[in-house]
Amino acid sequence: MKYYTPVLNIKNAQSEYINGEKSGNFYNPTLGFSYYSPSYVLTNEDIRWVSNLTNGNGKRVLTVAASGDHPMFYAMRGATDIDTFDISFCAKVAMDIKTAAIKKLSRDQYIQLLNNMHNAKDMSQIPYITELMPNIPQNSAYFIQQMNNYPIFSNGLNPSSYQEIIPTDAEYDQMRNAVQKPFKFIWTDIKSLHTRLLHEYDIINLSNIFEYMTPQQIHQTLAALRCHVRRGGTIIAQTGSWGIHRNNRAYYDASQKFKRWARVGYIRQDKNKANSEMIAILQRTR
Ligand SMILES: C[S@@+](CC[C@H](N)C(=O)[O-])C[C@H]1O[C@@H](n2cnc3c(N)ncnc32)[C@H](O)[C@@H]1O
Repeated sequence: MKYYTPVLNIKNAQSEYINGEKSGNFYNPTLGFSYYSPSYVLTNEDIRWVSNLTNGNGKRVLTVAASGDHPMFYAMRGATDIDTFDISFCAKVAMDIKTAAIKKLSRDQYIQLLNNMHNAKDMSQIPYITELMPNIPQNSAYFIQQMNNYPIFSNGLNPSSYQEIIPTDAEYDQMRNAVQKPFKFIWTDIKSLHTRLLHEYDIINLSNIFEYMTPQQIHQTLAALRCHVRRGGTIIAQTGSWGIHRNNRAYYDASQKFKRWARVGYIRQDKNKANSEMIAILQRTR
């Protein structure tokens, strides 16, 4: 099967947004997640809890880039080889800004930066960008300049809705020490992720993506990733409270079909809460 490999193209990126005239540009919501859909600036998942489940057990991690919080929390937990992937180039850009920012800004300034990124109508409304630009990889810096008045970080809710996810003072310091350079980014749809991987990982975190896929697609994706996780390593599908419940058939199916080489289980953060954060976890046994 042939898979599409995206190449950075500003015209294509701009065409995913609609000119709202007085209200400015906004993302075309009918496109869903796409190659240039706006990124989140802060995760809405409890990545603190999930990254702690495999703490000390995984140096080599592959995770969705999303807002950039996933790789940063894994770095804080001691992972040293972290690769990221995402369908949207904007996720890479947000992640690159955040990895530059954590080295330069105080935690209060960092929080201000996230708020500005989420709400900005153009880049002049993100004052810290100018200061960070020299430390942002070239393709992301170019994209920021070319997409000046497009809301490329506007996905999700305002960061103030997820205050509890923001790294604490202590976590911020640990992340600052742990994050040494921009994370490697693989720009791909998850369906072709396996064709772009060169390594075997301890942990693959496919957080909050399966919710949007059919059971067949989930099954194919998990099967294709088998040889990219080491024996004893895990593939994690994190979700909010509703995702796994909606798609749990796909995981039960997978646990039957993958019995020969994997164990599939579920962990709920709070066993007594029906709507608690929950993950499906698949451990490669052979
Ligand atoms: C589903 S979103 C939800 C936001 C997320 N909870 C967070 O922590 O920011 C997670 C990320 O998955 C990416 N994504 C969605 N569908 C994808 C796909 N088919 N392949 C690769 N990435 C995808 C989105 O671009 C987004 O950055």
